[in-house]
Amino acid sequence: MASSANGYVHGYHSREAERLTDQAGSLVELLHCDTAYADGSRVLEAGCGTGAQTVTLARNSPGARFTSIDISAGSLEEARARVTAIGATNVAFAQADLHALPFAAASFDHVFVCFVLEHVPDPDAALACLSAVLKPGGTITVIEGDHGSTYFHPDSDAAHRAIACQVELQRRAGGNALIGRELYPLLTRARFDAVSISPRMVYVDSSRPRLVEGFTRRTFTAMIEGVREAALAAKLIDAAAFDQGIRDLYRTAEADGVFCYTFFKGVAHNPPI
Ligand SMILES: C[S@@+](CC[C@H](N)C(=O)[O-])C[C@H]1O[C@@H](n2cnc3c(N)ncnc32)[C@H](O)[C@@H]1O
Repeated sequence: MASSANGYVHGYHSREAERLTDQAGSLVELLHCDTAYADGSRVLEAGCGTGAQTVTLARNSPGARFTSIDISAGSLEEARARVTAIGATNVAFAQADLHALPFAAASFDHVFVCFVLEHVPDPDAALACLSAVLKPGGTITVIEGDHGSTYFHPDSDAAHRAIACQVELQRRAGGNALIGRELYPLLTRARFDAVSISPRMVYVDSSRPRLVEGFTRRTFTAMIEGVREAALAAKLIDAAAFDQGIRDLYRTAEADGVFCYTFFKGVAHNPPI
């Protein structure tokens, strides 16, 4: 299927792993500040990738027991190493497709899924599969970005065109880089209760050098830059225009630049039986 390891638009090479780490590192507080699981609770992290979120989950909820799954064996290996490196012992890993989870119904108290629904061709089906392994009354937490929420100074048509290439390539791979705005309808349609969505805006100017480096440069712009060859091969844009767009994105990281992006975090409950 299109969300398989081969169809993953960002690829699995080391620069992508580094990008996800930078992303997690610069956004930990914004995305995780209100997520903590009770001692003894069982939590499924679906699509853990290289463990960028796993380490924060394990650290913030040391008494919870995490099962972190991903379809990619290579990513799981990195995730395992990363969790071992911080000395956490509350995470078990398994290679699995979230559409065919090897767990009994109602196995988990909570489900956590971050930056994964944007890559699956049928997020409704994915949520149904996650709901099935969640206990009645258990919570699901979903975090997604939305590239349509990107605006910056100085503004640049070329930068918007380069971003649009990434959005289009992700669409062609079966994903949706604009999925953040859809979390409420998605979770509601999946029959979760008490759906609550909170937008988490990242605001970056040069008074926040950690975010300039960790988010504007190494996360967002690096991600767009990473689709250069694919965008050119698909003839979505010519090289000069794409490269101008990337230069303009880096330009927003200079002293007078500003960069804004909004993530969406949804929390909802599995309905009681
Ligand atoms: C952008 S990464 C996010 C990783 C991690 N959650 C994070 O926030 O850093 C998306 C991950 O979803 C995984 N994935 C995509 N489709 C999947 C599926 N059907 N089942 C399990 N994992 C999947 C990919 O292998 C990849 O590791």
